[in-house]
Amino acid sequence: MLEIKNVNKFFGGLKAVHNASIKVEEGSITGLIGPNGAGKTTLFNTIAGLYDPDEGNIFLNNENISYLKPHELFAKGVLRTFQIAHEFSSLTVLENLMMVPPNQYGEKLSYALLNNLKVKKQEEEIREKAVEVINFLNLTNLTQELAGNLSGGQKKLLELGRTMMVDPKIVLLDEVGAGVNRTLLNEITDAILRLNKEKNYTFFVIEHDMDLIEKICDPVIVMAEGSVLFKGNFEEVKNNEIVIEAYLGKGLKKSKL
Ligand SMILES: Nc1ncnc2c1ncn2[C@@H]1O[C@H](COP(=O)(O)OP(=O)(O)O)[C@@H](O)[C@H]1O
Ligand SMILES: [Mg+2]
Repeated sequence: MLEIKNVNKFFGGLKAVHNASIKVEEGSITGLIGPNGAGKTTLFNTIAGLYDPDEGNIFLNNENISYLKPHELFAKGVLRTFQIAHEFSSLTVLENLMMVPPNQYGEKLSYALLNNLKVKKQEEEIREKAVEVINFLNLTNLTQELAGNLSGGQKKLLELGRTMMVDPKIVLLDEVGAGVNRTLLNEITDAILRLNKEKNYTFFVIEHDMDLIEKICDPVIVMAEGSVLFKGNFEEVKNNEIVIEAYLGKGLKKSKL
């Protein structure tokens, strides 16, 4: 589905991503791990159109998407969530979700005036979809809560919910577990699994929480210092000497892996 071919991304002299080649298969939940500074977020930003690759190409179902902008990728079903959630804090959970779908008739005043009924109908459909998403994520009792009042984990669930408002082909999750308590992390994990199984979402997941990686990701790709080091299932990753070395090199304990 997603093919990253020999991608390089430099910041001045720093090779943040160095000759990375990765395939994310349709229907998979592919994990991306590696020590801090490995280039994971930079790679995601390059896929999601925040940066153009300096070298190499990125394909979505064989179409070259290397130089598309975020909104163009969004339209093609390439969605991402951010390491730091970016909800609209003064809007409710429902409103946050209802804002996601692009090209809403109601935004064009002339259209709104001429086609009031159509606008209302579309808004109603979007509202229904948002309610469906909220229920799927077990956020029903927070429907009318201001997003700013949500806990860190609930905000991450809302981020996931935003991707569900359009029909994504692939969702990139950047540290969806960061700063989230165990209970909510289990809910997020469960939601990812259900979206994968029931709605056939493909996921590409950056995560530091190895429990989450072990539970849902196959394959797992390991990056360090800009390069792809290894790809395998979690068991293989855990026992690979090069991978262990990369983590130990950053002063992390083996038990962390
Ligand atoms: N916008 C930027 N400008 C300059 N250097 C950056 C920028 N973003 C990331 N870097 C550097 O690129 C390297 C990879 O960072 P990042 O992709 O955030 O790693 P990870 O997400 O794996 O922790 C790091 O050395 C980081 O300091
Ligand atoms: Mg990062």
